[in-house]
Amino acid sequence: HLVCPMNSSPYVDPRKPSQEVWEEFSMSFTPAVRDVVDFAKRIPGFRELPEHDQVGLLKAGTFEVLMVRFASLFNVVERTVTFLSGKRYGLDTLRSLGAGELLNSMCEFSEKLAALRLDPDEMSLFTAVVLVSADRSGIQDLSSVEALQDKLIRGLRNLVMQNHGEDSATTFTKLLLKLPELRSLNNMHSEELLSFTVHP
Ligand code: HEM
Repeated sequence: HLVCPMNSSPYVDPRKPSQEVWEEFSMSFTPAVRDVVDFAKRIPGFRELPEHDQVGLLKAGTFEVLMVRFASLFNVVERTVTFLSGKRYGLDTLRSLGAGELLNSMCEFSEKLAALRLDPDEMSLFTAVVLVSADRSGIQDLSSVEALQDKLIRGLRNLVMQNHGEDSATTFTKLLLKLPELRSLNNMHSEELLSFTVHP
């Protein structure tokens, strides 16, 4: 099984060589990864960072950006997850195929993010904040990354303050608190990815 919604289905033909399984999986997730790279290039100021740091933020943050973008694949009310092919699977089915705590945590994250009712502009600015807040290890020009992060966070704050009336302060705080949650989902997901690549 390959129980990741970035695949087209959780089922894998046991006769297929693992290299082929991985190739098909890559074909499924690559367009989404490419969109993150294109999105990053359009963040004002991102392309002015040293190329090494652009690559570092993308490596560390692509999963987190995708998690936000694809949060709506997790439907907590119907207890389903939609895979990139458009096929939907019940949570119980995915659990029986090996998904565990991470699947639960992602569902919970998605539900709480949806509850904040961000409009598309807020979502996009939040996603930019997520990317520039990615793990900084190995970043060369820390002060430029921090300056860009501050600028984007101020923009997000202004937008949320305009749109959310009396809930604005809590909405903004809740959004910032999503950053460490995303980091933890990223770490847990990397473990799954690593163990999958070690024993496919
Ligand atoms: C699990 C790869 C992005 C959600 C996995 C596994 C792999 C993987 C190899 C382990 C599968 C298994 O053991 O059956 C990738 C790659 C990604 C990616 C290469 C980069 C594009 C995402 C994103 C999400 C996601 C963006 C959420 C929107 C999940 C879930 C699981 C999973 C829910 C199962 C967790 C569990 O076992 O509880 N992924 N994934 N993945 N992935 Fe991904």
